[in-house]
Amino acid sequence: MRDDSQASPSLWMATANTPIQSRLKESIRTEICIIGAGIAGLSTAYLLGLEGRSVVVLDDGLIGGGMTGRTTAHLTNAYDDRYVEIEHLHGQEAARLTADSHTAAINKVGEIVTSEEIDCDFERLDGYLFAFSPDDLELLEDELKATHRAGLIDVKKVSRAPLESFDTGAALRFPRQAQFHPLKYMNGLTRAILRNGGRICGQTHATKIEGGSAARVETSHGPVVTSEVVVVATNTPINDRVAIHTKQAPYVTYVISVLVPKGSVTRALYWDTGDPYHYLRLQGDENDRYDVLIVGGEDHKTGQENDGDERHARLEQWTRERFPQMTDVKFRWSGQVMEPVDGLAFIGRNPLDDDNVYIATGDSGQGMTHGTIAGMLLTDLIQGRQNKWEDLYNPSRIRGKALPEYASENINVAEQYADYITAGDVRSEAEVKPGSGAIMRDGISKIAVYRDEAGNVQKFSAVCPHLGCVVAWNSTEQTWDCPCHGSRFSASGRVYQGPANSDLSAAEE
Ligand code: FES
Repeated sequence: MRDDSQASPSLWMATANTPIQSRLKESIRTEICIIGAGIAGLSTAYLLGLEGRSVVVLDDGLIGGGMTGRTTAHLTNAYDDRYVEIEHLHGQEAARLTADSHTAAINKVGEIVTSEEIDCDFERLDGYLFAFSPDDLELLEDELKATHRAGLIDVKKVSRAPLESFDTGAALRFPRQAQFHPLKYMNGLTRAILRNGGRICGQTHATKIEGGSAARVETSHGPVVTSEVVVVATNTPINDRVAIHTKQAPYVTYVISVLVPKGSVTRALYWDTGDPYHYLRLQGDENDRYDVLIVGGEDHKTGQENDGDERHARLEQWTRERFPQMTDVKFRWSGQVMEPVDGLAFIGRNPLDDDNVYIATGDSGQGMTHGTIAGMLLTDLIQGRQNKWEDLYNPSRIRGKALPEYASENINVAEQYADYITAGDVRSEAEVKPGSGAIMRDGISKIAVYRDEAGNVQKFSAVCPHLGCVVAWNSTEQTWDCPCHGSRFSASGRVYQGPANSDLSAAEE
């Protein structure tokens, strides 16, 4: 985020200060240039810095100011696309490597927290997967067998998750999961990167990324970084127009936090089997009478619904029915999840690009472990070492069994282009209420109209600068969201999430 931020701060943003790094002031040369100061970017920078590589990280906003600051930070090897599905799409060995990599990521975070003495509320605890409805009990049985085949032999079936206020029914217990405060962890990584000689430049927007022997990254305000290697870790790549974006789809997920009396909810991670599923966990509160309960769910495809308030309300109702001891909602926010069509992240060399350009994307709702896996895997690849997860996460992979999902997501994208010929949300800008936005038709053009609380109107072309879909207004976050590949723009048209890498253009008068 460069000038104006989303409307709803997450719990993390409200409870930790993010260190502000100054803008890149002059052109520089470095060994590794990383775009994106989220968990994938900083984990990679930290691990490469430990090996003595010179690293520069660029981000157009704040450290962790993107989706890392909006996650609910479950560190888990209970794969949310299910091991049954990973085994079906990729085979049994791949399911084993998936479990291995997420377990290793949890351990790696624990090691870093200890060695760097990062005060980030890191905590080991169990995770419980329970049935959303009685129809899902068989799914639990199948998943238990698949987790064992994947090597997680200490996963056990229990008669219920340890929640007193409601009976979950049978559940799978995943031991040695973890949680932390993501922004406090990012602050610790930042300190360590700087101590090891790395640089992190905030408010530095990368406009052009080129690999090859003279790899260079240009910025919007002029300075250029030249490097041996470029890593693009921007949630979804801003340097790739098509190859990756046909293989993953953007979803918005909603989160609330409430208070519950201390001790009234057992500390653990919880997930149900719904689609979309609910996920919950506790976070310690400074107040010694209460814990913070964080609950998420109600996902939908980005830019294709505008009913976030109702979704937050449904989440609140779902939570109140199961935790009647809860207080009113303290924070409401949302985040964006990139869902790969075959369930696994894309980490490695950027397809159809030079060999020294790498990407990390496709968090699949498990961004904290996938981001840490990216750090470990990319460090090995850049250092010329073999890594057993390389093929699993290879961004160029195509798995035949994922083709139906691939076709379905891309048909959905193609359908979004029909927005060119539909009527707008409003017929004139006078209909746009203060503090809101709407799409208006103007001849053959679609215009995005935003009226601020003071009544001032800003107008932009509603055409997304990535590949030309028509953006939609998100009244909950006060953003313009692209329904095709998930680019998001502030109310005043500033891009803050790719794959678009430029702002909405001003409407022609
Ligand atoms: Fe691809 Fe908008 S994000 S067209």
